Amino acid sequence: MARVALVTGGTRGIGEAISVALKNAGYTVAANYGGNDEKAREFSERTGIAAYKFDVSDFEAVKEGCARIAAELGPIDVLVNNAGITRDGVIHRMSHQQWKEVIDTNLTSCFNLSRNVIEGMRERGFGRIVNIGSINGQAGQYGQVNYAAAKSGIHGFTKALAQEGAAKGITVNAIAPGYIDTDMVRAVPANVLEKIVARVPVGRLGKAEEIARGVLFLVADDAGFITGATLSINGGQHMY
Ligand code: CAA
Repeated sequence: MARVALVTGGTRGIGEAISVALKNAGYTVAANYGGNDEKAREFSERTGIAAYKFDVSDFEAVKEGCARIAAELGPIDVLVNNAGITRDGVIHRMSHQQWKEVIDTNLTSCFNLSRNVIEGMRERGFGRIVNIGSINGQAGQYGQVNYAAAKSGIHGFTKALAQEGAAKGITVNAIAPGYIDTDMVRAVPANVLEKIVARVPVGRLGKAEEIARGVLFLVADDAGFITGATLSINGGQHMY
């Protein structure tokens, strides 16, 4: 039977490309989304992928959402923690709410989702978790102390959980995308974005499908020896 994959923030942007790539590779996909009903409906009609609405920053909502997906589609073998938001601003003008929303949605969500699927994965002796970090969690970014802290946290979370899952057939890896052509990046002021793209050796923004490519590689059944790794997909913008 096809493995069930849950992609958070899976109806738009990078998440949409991941959901579609997984479906095309034969997975049964559940695409989570947080708010945009119209886009989610359009996504489901176009792709045939089921969309599930719940707030990834709310532990109880995640618990219910995961239970609903497992009941309707089957046990979740693959989790892609992709949901993320920006609330950019320099720290001297950043509100506590801007800080908290980003930490809760981008980082606490990884705990909420992983906590709710990990016991099943341990029982079945198989699991694949991919966390979507960011170049800005690796290198920092002016105007993003909240986002950089959350994304950097994802990389530590990945390495710790990889150690816990290893003996149970569960791999945990991260992908650190660079600047990808999505609504999130298009919201960056044009003059700022121009300067960023000028620093990308490949000379362009990435495509969401180029991140999905990495996810497929990491979740494959025969990728069991790859764990605790971070795959940077950033056009050469940041290498280390
Ligand atoms: N380094 C140094 N100085 C910078 C700077 C930088 N990278 N960016 C801006 N500044 C300076 C400006 O030159 C300006 O200086 P002066 O006043 O001396 O001219 C000053 O900071 C204020 O700049 P702004 O007018 O832009 O200030 P603002 O308060 O209106 O906006 C900001 C600040 C919100 C940070 C805005 O610059 C911005 O949105 N920057 C983009 C941040 C970014 O890259 N976000 C990524 C979003 S996409 C994403 O996160 C996906 C992913 O994972 C890659």
